[in-house]
Amino acid sequence: MNTKGFIFDLDGVIVDTAKYHYFAWKKLAESIGISFTEEDNEHLKGVSRIKSLEKILEWGNIQLSKEKFQELITAKNEDYLGFVESMKEDEILADVPRVLAYLKSHQQFLALGSASKNARSILKKVALINDFKVIVDGNDVTKAKPNPEVFLKAAEGLQVPPKDCVVFEDSLAGIQAANTAGMISIGIGDATILKEADHVFSDFTEISNEFLYQLISEL
Ligand code: BG6
Ligand code: MG
Repeated sequence: MNTKGFIFDLDGVIVDTAKYHYFAWKKLAESIGISFTEEDNEHLKGVSRIKSLEKILEWGNIQLSKEKFQELITAKNEDYLGFVESMKEDEILADVPRVLAYLKSHQQFLALGSASKNARSILKKVALINDFKVIVDGNDVTKAKPNPEVFLKAAEGLQVPPKDCVVFEDSLAGIQAANTAGMISIGIGDATILKEADHVFSDFTEISNEFLYQLISEL
C-alpha cells in the first residue's frame, strides 16, 4: 500500500467556520461604509487575516492609520471568536470523520494546512486535534495562500514528497497553492469557483471510499 500525504484545509473543509469569517468581515466592512457580499467573501477565503483587511480597504478605497488597522483586525477576530466559542463536534462538516477514518485505516498520513491562527484551538474544540500527524497554520507561515508555503511545510512535516500529496480546499487561493506545490488539488464547494482544481465535490458526502482508494493507489 502506498503512503500518501493528505492535507486538509480547516475553515470550510473540516468545520463549518467559513460562514463565521464571513459574518465577522461583513460587520467590519459595513462599519466603515463598505458594502460586502458573499461574492466579495469568496476572494477572502483562504486569505490571511491581514491580507483580508487590506483587500477590503482597497475595495472601499480607504486608507487607515496603523492603529486603526490594528483595532479593526482585533475586533474582527474577537467577533469571530465569539461565534466559535461554543463550537462543538456537531460543526464538523458531513462525512469528514468517515474520510479521516478511512485514510487512517489505510495507513495514510494526515496533515492540516490552514491560514488560520485559530486553527489549533478550533481543532481542540471539535476534538480533532489528535487526528493530524502534522499541523501547519497561520502561526507557522510567512507567505499566505496562494503561495504554496503552508502545504509544502505540511508535506515536509509528513516526509512525503509534494507530488504524493493530496490537498482538500474550499478556496480558490488554496487550490492555486496546492497546484503550485505540485500536489493533487481537490476542491470542496462550487465547481464554477474552484475550476482550477483537479477534482471538485460539493462536499465530502460525494467523495466515496472507492475514490479515496484510487487516490491512494495512483502513483
Ligand atoms: C482561512 C479562512 O482559513 O483563515 C480565512 O478561510 C481567514 O477566511 C484565514 O481569514 C485566517 O484566519 P484567522 O482565524 O487567523 O483570522
Ligand atoms: Mg478554507
